[in-house]
Amino acid sequence: AQTDVALTPPMGWNSWNLFEEEVSDKLIREIADAIVSSGMAHAGYQYIVLDDYWVGGRNANNELFPDPVRFPQGIKTLADYVHSKGLKLGIYSDAASLTCGGVTGSYNFEEQDAKTFAKWGIDYLKYDYCNAPDDMVTAFTRYKKMGDALKKTERPIVYSICEWGQRQPWLWAKAAGGHLWRTTWDIRDTWVSDKYDNGHNGIMNTVDKQKGLEKFAGPGGWNDPDLLVTGLFGKGKSSSLKGRYSGCSLTEYRSQFILWCMLASPLMVNLDVRTMDTAVATILRNKELIAIDQDPLGKQAALIGDYNGCQVFKKELSGDRYALCILNRRDTAGAFSFALNDLKIFGQWSARQVLTNQQLGAVKILSGKLAAHDCAVFVLVAK
Ligand code: DGJ
Repeated sequence: AQTDVALTPPMGWNSWNLFEEEVSDKLIREIADAIVSSGMAHAGYQYIVLDDYWVGGRNANNELFPDPVRFPQGIKTLADYVHSKGLKLGIYSDAASLTCGGVTGSYNFEEQDAKTFAKWGIDYLKYDYCNAPDDMVTAFTRYKKMGDALKKTERPIVYSICEWGQRQPWLWAKAAGGHLWRTTWDIRDTWVSDKYDNGHNGIMNTVDKQKGLEKFAGPGGWNDPDLLVTGLFGKGKSSSLKGRYSGCSLTEYRSQFILWCMLASPLMVNLDVRTMDTAVATILRNKELIAIDQDPLGKQAALIGDYNGCQVFKKELSGDRYALCILNRRDTAGAFSFALNDLKIFGQWSARQVLTNQQLGAVKILSGKLAAHDCAVFVLVAK
């Protein structure tokens, strides 16, 4: 029952970075409304994921119940509402007795909690790893226990494995039933993290750490480089973001979005879709970029060239096509010019430049100018 989900990278919204513990029934309903009215649902954003801090505790039957103040009507009613909008509801738990936020987790109650989630109509579980033992064998065992429990419910529930890439989950997450697995620590709302930000990652640090993981991604199982900080502009309230960085430029946010599409990453936005401005919305709803992310072949882009600070990423697409992304990592504007032959792309190709909306016709060389930290995206079609 769990094999026909996440055939393309999951897309949606997650509460963590912007709202942290300020989650509520009212918030999730308003976000669901806005996902629809803003055109995000139409663009493919489907899962509304309620992250940490929704849990109240366990009742006399050991059944999880939500925080009664934040979710007075219970989760089932909320799921019904989200479903009535044509969307899906995701929820969060942890493979230990307490979550990162210190509320009740699912350890030793995996079957019961999976049943509860299925009964409520949950479509996605993000399963965290705070307060759990460090080693890989225990991580695999605990994740598999929940994976098996989810399968047993026979409800199609996307299973998101969130142990931050510390125990090489790309090697075992699929065997544990996972459909996506974090490859890296929590992302920061910055282009590059500073050296004091121990182990954490700005957008560029995160991209660098995806190198070599391409072969583990494919339909039904995705590397997850964490959430899209696109459009947060330093406003995140989560412990991952608060007071650390002042945010990125619009260009940098667009580059994150483009790179996540190239990497066949889950596209989970964090911003307040109720008040999102047009410039950001235009990035997040870009049909051609989303089609690159959602391409049915499910290939993750690889870095294939680095020339003077301009990096080239190549993603194979269905229908004899490739997406190429040129990323200017320099802090200054720069020109690029790449011969397809030098990129080991041989034969006859016609190209379309996605962001400038240009049909380039037959090409042998791709060239252009890029602002600092900007990206150009080309789709090549075999002639
Ligand atoms: C750590 C995860 O990496 C975050 O994405 C978020 O789920 C928090 N835990 C919640 O406490």
